[in-house]
Parts: sequence; structure tokens; C-alpha cells
Amino acid sequence: MPYRRTTLSKFIIEDQRRSGAPEPDLTSLLNDIQTACKLIALATSRGSIAPAGEPREPAVATAVNVQGEQQKPLDVTANNIMIGTCEWGGQLAGMVSEEMEQPYEIPAAYPRGRYLLVFDPLDGSSNIDVNMPVGTIFSVLRCPGGVTEPTLEHFLQPGTAQVAAGYAIYGPTAMLVLTLGAGVHGFTLDPEIGAFTLTHPGMAIPPDSHEFAVNVSNERFWEPPVRRYVDECVEGASGVRGVDFNMRWIASMVAEVHRILIRGGLFMYPRDSKDPSKPGRLRLMYEANPMAMVVEQAGGAASTGRGRILEVTPEAIHQRVPVILGSRGEVERLVRYHADYDAGADQPFKTPLFNARSLFRTA
Ligand code: F6P
Repeated sequence: MPYRRTTLSKFIIEDQRRSGAPEPDLTSLLNDIQTACKLIALATSRGSIAPAGEPREPAVATAVNVQGEQQKPLDVTANNIMIGTCEWGGQLAGMVSEEMEQPYEIPAAYPRGRYLLVFDPLDGSSNIDVNMPVGTIFSVLRCPGGVTEPTLEHFLQPGTAQVAAGYAIYGPTAMLVLTLGAGVHGFTLDPEIGAFTLTHPGMAIPPDSHEFAVNVSNERFWEPPVRRYVDECVEGASGVRGVDFNMRWIASMVAEVHRILIRGGLFMYPRDSKDPSKPGRLRLMYEANPMAMVVEQAGGAASTGRGRILEVTPEAIHQRVPVILGSRGEVERLVRYHADYDAGADQPFKTPLFNARSLFRTA
């Protein structure tokens, strides 16, 4: 009986063949990305155990990255893996990483290619110390024609221009979830053969759900429409929604998006007033855009609250953006609440049947 399981490599080749306009360089690039993700999966699974003969990496953060966030040794390891595995093949003209202030130039020793790779090598890395899921997020863009030495402006393309996007999650199993612009497919790393293998074809987000994920400790900094939405979820069956909701917060965007792809829900890191210089926490180019493409391709929606994430015109490679994504019905509801609020039509909700929303509570 022939072995017919679909490895990620086979899937990409067949997908490219079906597309009628195969791009061999894209196939090679995606293969390099999957190799990098396997190496990062191995590095994260070792935790504090150093490979034989190598010194143990310190478990504590050693530096602060370009975002002003603590950089863990594994952040640096994952970044080095992505660069070293993807720079040599001649498919890339440049890379942007969360961990590097400026775009990474492909060394002169290697040929330059047609694509740009933008990535967060280890998302949710505050989870490393506590052995919780982390992941890698990636976005593939085309390098503008004729450009061999891309500068900042060449990376500043809206999410709608992405050729491919996805993430790897390093949890109880390692998985790679990919979209090439026609659906979303999940591949589980088979540790026996070291291959990502198709286990979740055609992932689809349920349109409605009763689960939300948000860092509630920021509530006092939220805008009224977000408070309205969360208050109504918390009121559950006794409020306007008439049904109980469940809340989750893993503090790893990859893990939250993965859960939503499997069973629906809403995830958000909305605009807040905590630091007025930052319109949100998550980064547009290597967090919001690739995840928005994945979510939309799986039938969900991804919005800033006031527009489609994929249509935001980037102004800086490390730009932040408010993110609301997940089940279409829930995202659309929250977008409507933003529109109501902006139009001054968000009236205080008071009824003897249900309690006043806490947002408008006066006593
Ligand atoms: O930097 C991104 C990130 O780690 C996301 O993966 C996650 O959703 C969020 O930040 C967690 O934020 P907080 O520390 O506020 O819980």
C-alpha cells in the first residue's frame, strides 16, 4: 500500500501545481520557513536543557529589544534560526524581524530573490519561563519589481499584498498553519519522521461563538465600545446577549488564534489609552497582518474596530495597531459598537430587566 500522507512539502508543491502559475522560489522559501520552524520547535522543547556539549543558556532575560521588551535567549535563538535558514537560498531580497530595528540585508555572498519575509520569530515569549505555548508568525510579500536592495519603504505594503502567511505553534504538539490565499491548512509535526503532516485541511472558524479573549487588566484604558462588548459578555445569560460567555487569556497571540481556528471566539488587543503614543500593543506587519490573512481565509474577520486590518497602510515596520479578530459575527458586532460610538448613537443601556452596563453605571 503506497504511503499517501500529505507532508507540508508535498502540499505546497501540489498547491503550486494546481494554481496554474507555480512559483518555484515560493515553494523553496516556504520549505526553508518550515525547516526554521522545526529547529525553533526543537529549541523551545529543550527548555533549559542545553544540547550536548553546549553551555546552558541563561533562563533569565538578557536584553531589551527594539520594542522596549525583555528579550529572552530563545528570542535571539529563534531569530538567528529564521535568518540563517532563510537567507541563503536566493528567494529573498530582505527580511524584517520583530527582534531587529532595521531590515536585515541579505549578505552579498547570496543571490537576491523576489520575496520579502517579515516575521516574529518567537511570539508570546513571556510564556517561555512558565512552559506555555509560544509560536513563530510569518508573512511573505513580493519585493517590488527591479528592487534588489530593499529599503524600509519597500516593506511597507498593506496586508492585502501578502503572498502567503501563517504561524507555527509550539505547544503539546508543534503545528504549522499556512495560507497561500486559498483557505487555511494545518500541519502537525510528526516527531517520528520530522515532517509537518496535513492534519487540519480547510480550517474554518465558526461564525458565532461564546468565548472571548482579552487582557481585562487594561479595562480602565479601553474605549467605550470595547467596554460595552465585554460588559455584555460578562453579563451573560442575564444581559442583552442572553447567553453565558467563557473567557480565555493565554498571553500568546499564536495560541489564541489557534484556539479560534479550532473552535471559534473573539480575540482582541484593542486600542487603549495606556500609552497614548501607541495605538495598540500588537505589531501590524508581523503579528496583525499575517494573522488577519489566516483568520479571513478561514472565514473569520479581522478589524482594528474601525477598518479591515489587511487594508491598513503601514507607515513603519514596527507599527502597532488595534486588533480584533475571530468569529465573523462577534467581530462584526464589535465593529458596529465602534461605529455607534463614533456616531454618538451608543446610548446608555438601562432596563429594569437587566442591570445597567457598568460603563454607564453612575452609582
Ligand atoms: O507581543 C505580543 C504578545 O506576547 C502576544 O502574543 C500576546 O497576545 C500579548 O503580547 C500578551 O500581552 P499581555 O502581556 O498584555 O498579556
